[in-house]
Amino acid sequence: MEILRGKRPSFMDALALAERLTGYDNLHIDIGTGDGRFVQHMAQTCPRSFVIGIDACRENLQIVSRRAASNALFVIANAQALPSELYGLATHITINFPWGSLLEGLLADDAALLSGLGMLTHANATLDVRLNGGAVAEAGWSLEEGAERVQAVLAANGFAMCRPQPPSIDELKTFPTTWAKRIAFGRDPRAIHLRGVSKIVMPINGDTIREAV
Ligand SMILES: C[S@@+](CC[C@H](N)C(=O)[O-])C[C@H]1O[C@@H](n2cnc3c(N)ncnc32)[C@H](O)[C@@H]1O
Repeated sequence: MEILRGKRPSFMDALALAERLTGYDNLHIDIGTGDGRFVQHMAQTCPRSFVIGIDACRENLQIVSRRAASNALFVIANAQALPSELYGLATHITINFPWGSLLEGLLADDAALLSGLGMLTHANATLDVRLNGGAVAEAGWSLEEGAERVQAVLAANGFAMCRPQPPSIDELKTFPTTWAKRIAFGRDPRAIHLRGVSKIVMPINGDTIREAV
């Protein structure tokens, strides 16, 4: 997979990744990570976790990746083609305030995105998706209908979903991503938090199966 440090891209294979992950308890993957601020925050506040930020846009990540924490890594990839080196490794996945093809893929039950998401998960991995009113409206949905739709798509793709929760404006203001702050101080400060747990297990032969629940 392609990784970024400053302006310098390079490739990391599964073996090199395994070496980087040695000694850490958890792997948190943040998809559509934007400027990487959330990854840096999580890496600094959870030193036992390794945190990987993925985004399709390399320009966003050049500054943060130059001074990445030792337990953080930035990967350039499209969420519709998530790197196979990460399969089966994520104990926690976040998608914070997606827009564009990432949000559209969630709303449209895009097979490449949803199967990739499932493939990333370690047993019982948790998934947090935060949607905001403006982005969901741009995609042609009301926030409530869009959130209901994404919740149903995730439930149909191997995640046991909890009841959606709207974060308060104060929660948005203190949530450590750039977009949470933009939303909290913007014209449409509405958001919905969807949380799920993966029911997908990876047996030894690599075929993905779903746990009966
Ligand atoms: C509104 S920004 C949110 C950034 C960050 N999560 C935050 O909360 O500040 C949405 C991000 O999703 C990324 N994105 C959109 N479609 C994507 C895709 N198909 N694959 C990977 N990243 C994508 C964009 O490049 C952008 O950085």
